[in-house]
Amino acid sequence: MPIRPATPESITRAVALLRSGGVVALPTETVYGLGALVWDAAAVARIFEIKRRPAFDPLIVHIGDREALERVAARVPKAAETLIGRFWPGPLTIVLPKRPRVPALVTAGLSTVAVRMPSHPVARALLRGLGEPLAAPSANAFGGLSPTRAAHVAEALGANVDLILDGGATHYGIESTIVAVEPAPVLLRPGAVAAEEIEATIGPLARGAPPGPASAPGQLPVHYAPRTPLRVVDPAEVPPAERAAAGALAFHEPFEGYASVRVLSRRGDLREAAAAFFEALHELDALGLERIDAQPMEERGLGLAMMDRLRRAAAGH
Ligand code: TXA
Ligand code: MG
Repeated sequence: MPIRPATPESITRAVALLRSGGVVALPTETVYGLGALVWDAAAVARIFEIKRRPAFDPLIVHIGDREALERVAARVPKAAETLIGRFWPGPLTIVLPKRPRVPALVTAGLSTVAVRMPSHPVARALLRGLGEPLAAPSANAFGGLSPTRAAHVAEALGANVDLILDGGATHYGIESTIVAVEPAPVLLRPGAVAAEEIEATIGPLARGAPPGPASAPGQLPVHYAPRTPLRVVDPAEVPPAERAAAGALAFHEPFEGYASVRVLSRRGDLREAAAAFFEALHELDALGLERIDAQPMEERGLGLAMMDRLRRAAAGH
């Protein structure tokens, strides 16, 4: 297994690998990413191969500083500047007009590029060492559960990755929020920054996809899916006889009679629940159960992002 604890030495090794066409998994504050040097189309192609990801699904470009933004984005509209000032570094991805030099494979042929500046110290150290932007989707097989630990990456992608930097469990546990700002602000994917916080900064966000062939990730109806069939249902309403062979993903209260129960946050905190969310799904999925019953959550704050992931996970079955 190519897992190594993230240290100055292993980060230096990761930079060398990336400079010579390698593909490296790294922790970010949201989920683990699978990175390649953005200018290296062959290395980026390997990301698509390793993830078995369709080429119509564009990647997020990660940058270490403001200067790197100018190298990938042709222009930064005023609303984007406001968001950058408020949320970067951090788990907000902004869709901007792209520079021609960004390979078409990175953006799936779109005229825009999705960019974020991660706050995770390991991601930052790696970007600083590399001195160039990194194209990086989440480090899971396409359509599967997102990785919040190095072991999740190893299990899903294993030997195909040149190096997995282990930085422990990720802080937010759910992907970045994605917004486009032109022609009007749109929420493309709910995520670790609550939509309400963004709206408090730049005003109302429309929901859904902008015009054009754009956006695909969370946009796909089936995504973020465990192998075990999952349904969104309040376990309280599931008859005891249907519980024994199933697992429950509960928001804050434990349920009786299930083969296994994961409670996301005993104090009912959406942020704490999000941090435990994919981890709990990975654990339940590993038990080989007949079914997972996921309790619906209120769609405010990070509850919006979790419900989005649960609906897409359920759509697969
Ligand atoms: O938190 C995150 O965002 C993680 C970490 C690793 O940074 N990354 C992540 O990447 O979730 P991924 O590939 O799983 O999801 C990225 C999604 C794509 O599926 C795509 O739909 C959207 O970002 N995206 C990328 N470029 C876009 C663009 N130009 N316009 C609209 N959406 C875009
Ligand atoms: Mg993903």
